[in-house]
Amino acid sequence: MRPTEDLVREHGDILAMIQVVREMVRRLETAESVDPEHIDKAIYFIRNYADKYHHAKEEDLLFPAMYEAGVPKEGGPVAVMLREHDEGREYVRVAAEANDRYRAGDATAGKTVAANLRNYAGLLEQHITKENQVLYPIADSHIGQPGQAELRWSFDHVSAKPEMQRECDRCKAILAELDPIYLGE
Ligand SMILES: [Fe+2]
Ligand SMILES: [Fe+2]
Repeated sequence: MRPTEDLVREHGDILAMIQVVREMVRRLETAESVDPEHIDKAIYFIRNYADKYHHAKEEDLLFPAMYEAGVPKEGGPVAVMLREHDEGREYVRVAAEANDRYRAGDATAGKTVAANLRNYAGLLEQHITKENQVLYPIADSHIGQPGQAELRWSFDHVSAKPEMQRECDRCKAILAELDPIYLGE
């Protein structure tokens, strides 16, 4: 399987959590209460699965392989993707801080959580579409067979690390727990 196919599959998990997050946002914006523990868990998934696992594979392995294959580092689509990863981290940082205040009883902080998670969801949805439809096809067409084989090895190496497997299992358990609560059976 091509390395970018792993990433497309991970996008499926990330989009599933974004659906949960969108329902949390809807409830927060309509003054229904949302358990701050659930918000923390969604943020844990975003930080560990979407960011430390998935975005790290893109930033540390795929993008460098693309530069090596002649895709420009500056001013091109990869630079846009990197900027969007940072933008996403900032929304999540602000949402996490606001969630601490929300948990402590500050109702207006719930609105800040909602606004930042809404922005995150919108950003990531369009980011994932661009990667699936534009960036990964560029990677596939530029990176030759030796580069693909090297990436395959590196991706498998990352995924096989016991601590990474534990994190991925924990994140998938969070998704399995929150999905029926927010999206029904
Ligand atoms: Fe990305
Ligand atoms: Fe991605």
